[in-house]
Amino acid sequence: MTDDSGRTSRFPTRRQILGTTAAGIGGLTGCTELLGASTETIDPPSTLIATWRTSDPTHQVTLQWVVESDEQPDPVDIALSPSANSKATNETAVARFGPVDSYPPMYRHRATFEALAPDTDFEIELRGKPTGLTVRTAPESIDEPLTFAQGGDIGTTGFVPDLHQQAASWDPLFALVGGDLAYADGVSVSPWITFLEQWHEHMRSDGRLIPIVAGIGNHEVQGGMHGSPEDAPFYYDLFDNEVRDQAYWAIDIGDSVSFLILDSNHTTEVPGEQTEWLESALAERADWEHVAAVSHVPAYPSSKPITGAGRDRVDVRDHWVPLFEAYDVDVVFEHDDHTYKRTHLLEGGEQADDGVLYVGDGAWGKGGREAASTEERPYLAVSKSKRHVIRTTFAPDGTRQYRAVDPDGETIDRFDGNGQPVAEN
Ligand SMILES: [Fe+2]
Repeated sequence: MTDDSGRTSRFPTRRQILGTTAAGIGGLTGCTELLGASTETIDPPSTLIATWRTSDPTHQVTLQWVVESDEQPDPVDIALSPSANSKATNETAVARFGPVDSYPPMYRHRATFEALAPDTDFEIELRGKPTGLTVRTAPESIDEPLTFAQGGDIGTTGFVPDLHQQAASWDPLFALVGGDLAYADGVSVSPWITFLEQWHEHMRSDGRLIPIVAGIGNHEVQGGMHGSPEDAPFYYDLFDNEVRDQAYWAIDIGDSVSFLILDSNHTTEVPGEQTEWLESALAERADWEHVAAVSHVPAYPSSKPITGAGRDRVDVRDHWVPLFEAYDVDVVFEHDDHTYKRTHLLEGGEQADDGVLYVGDGAWGKGGREAASTEERPYLAVSKSKRHVIRTTFAPDGTRQYRAVDPDGETIDRFDGNGQPVAEN
């Protein structure tokens, strides 16, 4: 193509930039000339999100967005400033979002940046223009308390922006989501657009996009349970990871903090290879300061039946709980029940001083189910029918702090790493 100076270039003209607006890229704002004014900015696509989908958020981040288009769109020039290195990604990879017969037709733009400096803010540039948005890499080690937002079972209702805003107000380094994201059930593209737009608009802190780490839940999958990656096309198009072609992997921050994201019988069975991987991952991290596991289906549910809803809860208890206990996992984040819960420290389902803490239960937007009482289910220390998101802080001294907050910002539970209530955190 030829730009306004007559020079052959792959950079688009302003008119061409504006011509892509219908495909999702916003127009230029604040510009008085066609090109070259340093004050020009470009509106980001309304579905742009930052994702940690590799094992190394200290040096890598993925930016993605989705656009509707009848034809495959051209790649878009994209950069982070300060620039990463000479090998940095400079344009998006474009691929169909979801199956080729899904309607309306959508395409995913993706750029994964590698070899980034740790604990650094980068400005996101599109088509050579700043967007006014930034992303941040994780630190190499936690010298200061690390705060992240945790929850699951989100959806696209009016509660979601409120909970996003609560989470974003903590300036969390990232958000750890335990499945059931857009509630598209692996077949519908439209809920994903709303989900991404709500995340883009509300999960940001002073212009910094808060990256999502997304585990898989039943509502990502055609049929919900016991499927394959092919049954969860939209999830895998956005949240596939570079470690393996499954929805379980580890995200590590330095050699002291790890998040083990698990697939509770959605596209990989609990028993077998995944459990073998979990054991080896836990063994490798046996003396790390903070190790958290994330599962959609809870071992210790606070609303749904303990045993009566298929074998999945039993699978988690039979195959993963013994490993959580043997390797002293610090916390297991559980979801799916659309209620709030904190368990006692548990060993074999009974209270034990050196047991494992389970926290959840998936109501970052979804809700309305009745929580079982602590008398009915003695493994529960707290259970409430409350939508919530959980502020979680892992400290350099090995301590952990949690605060569950409802859509109005009211604290519904706060406790320490031993599952003991605290007055402040
Ligand atoms: Fe679920």
